[in-house]
Amino acid sequence: MDMGLAGKSVVVTGGASNIGRSIVLAFADEGANITIGDIDLNQAEKVGKLAIKRGAAGVQVVRTDVTDLIQVQAMFQAATKKFGCVDVLVNNVGWDKLMFFTQTTPDFWQKVIQINYVGVLNCTKVALDLMIPQNRGAIVSISSDASRQGEPREAVYGGIKAAINSFMKTIAKENGRYGIRCNAVCPGATIPQDDEEVGEPSMWSDKTAMFTPEQLEKVAKSMPLRKLGRPRDIANAVVFLASPMAGHVTGQVLSVSGGYSMVG
Ligand SMILES: NC(=O)c1ccc[n+]([C@@H]2O[C@H](COP(=O)([O-])OP(=O)(O)OC[C@H]3O[C@@H](n4cnc5c(N)ncnc54)[C@H](O)[C@@H]3O)[C@@H](O)[C@H]2O)c1
Repeated sequence: MDMGLAGKSVVVTGGASNIGRSIVLAFADEGANITIGDIDLNQAEKVGKLAIKRGAAGVQVVRTDVTDLIQVQAMFQAATKKFGCVDVLVNNVGWDKLMFFTQTTPDFWQKVIQINYVGVLNCTKVALDLMIPQNRGAIVSISSDASRQGEPREAVYGGIKAAINSFMKTIAKENGRYGIRCNAVCPGATIPQDDEEVGEPSMWSDKTAMFTPEQLEKVAKSMPLRKLGRPRDIANAVVFLASPMAGHVTGQVLSVSGGYSMVG
């Protein structure tokens, strides 16, 4: 389906593994020009090669730690140099380690805040500085249903993802006048299908560290749709929100989680 994204310049952070990888491939299917910013160069290069095979107009990988503003600026410079502009930013990087709040430490809180929130602030600031003068753009941030549900073992992460929802609504209000749309997507448990889909820094490089197979079965059974999410489920929603098909949609937080969250 032609979503009107052919030739558009799209920046995807954390595009090397799992959901980010699938987002890159979904934009590749639409014939976009894609810049992948990730700390995992090796896995990102593999995804880049696959994206070209799938139909991307162009791909470049820029080693970027999103918590470092200087590196983020360099990534956007590379995107504009190679593809002329930036039409779409997908803030996909995220990280967590499941444990009860009482087991966490201030160092852990800082890491969660830096990767999940400061990374989004860095990328969004630089993207807006490019998008405002061009009077167009779309930003999609990957949040989490943990931001809406109060998820045990995800207290700090869920709180920070709720901050992302609020942040996206505010920048949607501030920048709608420039034709810039800003939305968030909340995945539920979204599991890679095979080892090819993740690199070493991925939260899923050791799947059982996140959930045991028994826990995953229980999670799936508890969903209205009785199944877990797959990365492509999230990627489809992201591509829609980034595309002209969602030209009148901004400031929204969309759960893509088999019905786990239903917010009226
Ligand atoms: N998978 C899920 O069940 C799930 C559920 C809810 C929300 N989410 C959110 O979806 C997004 C993607 O999750 P995922 O499961 O694909 O994660 P993942 O851990 O599999 O992949 C994250 C990617 O980000 C990269 N990365 C990590 N830190 C980075 C940094 N500082 N700078 C640049 N790149 C960095 C990693 O190398 C990796 O490629 C995250 O924001 C996550 O919070 C995931």
